[in-house]
Amino acid sequence: EKGEYRHFMEKEIHEQPDSVQHTLSEYLDFVNGKAKTGPTDFAAVDRIQIVACGTAFYAGQIGRYAFEKLAGLPCDVEIASEFRYRQPALSPGTLAVAVSQSGETADTLASLSWCKAAGLKTAALVNVHSSSMAREAETLWPTHAGPEIGVASTKAFTAQVAALLALAVAAGVQRGRIDAAREAELVKALFEAPRLIAAAMLMEDDLKAVAADVAKATDVLFLGRGAMFPLAMEGALKLKEISYIHAEGYAAGELKHGPIALIDEETPTIALAPLDDVFEKTASNLQEVAARGGPVIMIAPTSAPDPHGAGIRRVDAPECHSLIAPLVYAVPVQLLAYYVAVQKGTDVDQPRNLAKSVTVE
Ligand code: F6R
Repeated sequence: EKGEYRHFMEKEIHEQPDSVQHTLSEYLDFVNGKAKTGPTDFAAVDRIQIVACGTAFYAGQIGRYAFEKLAGLPCDVEIASEFRYRQPALSPGTLAVAVSQSGETADTLASLSWCKAAGLKTAALVNVHSSSMAREAETLWPTHAGPEIGVASTKAFTAQVAALLALAVAAGVQRGRIDAAREAELVKALFEAPRLIAAAMLMEDDLKAVAADVAKATDVLFLGRGAMFPLAMEGALKLKEISYIHAEGYAAGELKHGPIALIDEETPTIALAPLDDVFEKTASNLQEVAARGGPVIMIAPTSAPDPHGAGIRRVDAPECHSLIAPLVYAVPVQLLAYYVAVQKGTDVDQPRNLAKSVTVE
């Protein structure tokens, strides 16, 4: 069932315009430019606590930026294996949200049950709608990525991000933070996401060329600011999982607090740099890397100015609204990991030591 594709991962990457579109239709009314009023009343929520593992945790972190910025809703995100054992202090108005592709991950499910037993409102953002988490939570927030076969998550991740962004818009409207004009603008930005995700697929040839070099590295850094920071961590995870190259994702502003010591001619830095309000900050971090002889690959739109510095190589990304940048930039992150793995000849769909669903601790 891989059709024209070599691997399920490649197929699933290319399905994202559809899976994101399908997921967004659950939460948005594109015809009227409105967020749908779902089963969750965000006006009655004081805080959000997201719990998740791995890639779903990074989706949750992207969601956090959106809930806080658009809805003024405090949002914490924690790895479920830590959350469940540390006896977290939670306030009664908290909505606990489990984010999971499978809906079966043991630590995430246990964290959700713990929150429910503590009397919190609960929601499960899951791709498998008949899963344990879907049944355990009060409210089901479905993603519509369809079955994901590749062990490394791709389309389930973007579906989670799409749903969280749309829910953050809904929360902003319900909480009186977003007026009708702004709502229409944000819904339109999300409406454009599937088309721009498809446009990002055209970066494939450029990324193949970059992958040929990255495949020679033993360590790779991913940098980003804002929602690009969790996406940088997701990029590093993806690369580790399927190419077995050591990679780390950092907030670009953290560079000088330690990781810049790692920079040398053999350590590529991949920067996720949409033209947003922190672009200039990221660009100056990249100049610092280049000045120390580190090869820099900057993924940015053509409209972004050149951060003058020897060795800065650009990969052009589609222009997009900053709300949907995590969806659009997820594509190059996934394709890069994919082509590095293909280059190295690893088992892309079944990476060593990994299971699709972690139902034991
Ligand atoms: C990474 C990956 C894992 C999962 C994690 C949670 O590519 O697939 O990190 O994201 O095991 O799984 P779910 O989402 O099923 O709870």
